Amino acid sequence: MLRAAVRESTLVKLTLGKHRGPDATLQNLFVRPVALKTGPHLAFVWRHGTRDITKNHAPAEALSLLEPLIGGDFLDAHLFTTTRHAQFESKADGSSRLKLLAAPVASAATPAQSGSHDRAKTHLIPVSAPWLGALGVINERGHPREGMADKFRQIQKFAELLTHLVEEAFPARATQPSPVPQRVVDAGSGKGYLTFALAQILGAGAHIQGIELRPELVALCNRVARENGFSNLTFTAGQIVPGEIENQKSKIENPPDVLIALHACDTATDDALARGLAAGAQLLVVAPCCQKELRSQLTAPPVLADALRHGIFQERHTEFVTDALRAQLLEWAGYRTKVFEFISTEHTAKNLMIAAIKSHAPGDAGRASRLRDFAAFYGIRTQRLATHLNFSLRP
Ligand SMILES: C[S@@+](CC[C@H](N)C(=O)[O-])C[C@H]1O[C@@H](n2cnc3c(N)ncnc32)[C@H](O)[C@@H]1O
Repeated sequence: MLRAAVRESTLVKLTLGKHRGPDATLQNLFVRPVALKTGPHLAFVWRHGTRDITKNHAPAEALSLLEPLIGGDFLDAHLFTTTRHAQFESKADGSSRLKLLAAPVASAATPAQSGSHDRAKTHLIPVSAPWLGALGVINERGHPREGMADKFRQIQKFAELLTHLVEEAFPARATQPSPVPQRVVDAGSGKGYLTFALAQILGAGAHIQGIELRPELVALCNRVARENGFSNLTFTAGQIVPGEIENQKSKIENPPDVLIALHACDTATDDALARGLAAGAQLLVVAPCCQKELRSQLTAPPVLADALRHGIFQERHTEFVTDALRAQLLEWAGYRTKVFEFISTEHTAKNLMIAAIKSHAPGDAGRASRLRDFAAFYGIRTQRLATHLNFSLRP
């Protein structure tokens, strides 16, 4: 992560602590990027008990000096980049722990901003990110364009949530310090707002592919990615699920380890989930919308019949039954799920998110039977995700 931050100019600072090297007076090493006439360098401030010693190094030299110090002479390392904080703790017995945190608002400025005394509010995805301007979210004065304030808020919230979900789904191990997923698919990427946010928070170590039906959006997003140096981000025109789903496993090349689908209408969410499941993705994140499929099947159980005479209750019930079924099917398929509102309803009505992390063996018979009881209670006989999974909802 340090190497990537130096390469991509996203390093804000690195702080090394808990010194245990031979010089007993040394306490910390602070590293910051500095722009010298000879090009970008890293300034090292060696803090001793009574004095600081400063020395600048070219990036390659700085990295070769730092690598043995992290977990060597210094047991603690805190890395601050424009998009995330990481804390690496090692113990004298050789064990270590990596903790990833989203960069808090105050330090999420670009290195240039953090060097100035700019007190303007900064964000996890800084307003200065050029792709926000290119996609029409932020204007030249660094403010959300008219009508884009909610989208900007949604991007921030999404970046924050995904940072935490990725951390949970890909926990660091002593043997594998970089928990960043390798391949991410954003199914139904639209204008790419959230796909770019993902590419920014995950960094160059992950490849992100947006899949989108509309070729003009694909062309726009590929151009913005190219012009803004996102070599890890590509957009492809096509269907979320090409052809029939059976035997998807053998058809999917480079299976993703994260699948997201945000506001993929109606059954497109099921198609996206099925694609992620077929690929064995570790993390699935969907924000469903326009849940229409079950409307015609939903039969009010007698106790709910009077309430469900009202169209709005029927609509909300359909949403509830659809998303509850999806979550239960994911649990049956071996994932632990969380269902929550990811942004206040004040900003968007489409705010339900289902996150699923692979965690247990699929096919539990007790779960399957409870799922069928649930479907039967509402008169549901078929549902797209169940069909993709070859799961019969009939008792
Ligand atoms: C409401 S937009 C959401 C875009 C984006 N995910 C976001 O949240 O900002 C849904 C997008 O999914 C695309 N889409 C719908 N069904 C699709 C399918 N079967 N395959 C690929 N893209 C699809 C639509 O063209 C549209 O751009």
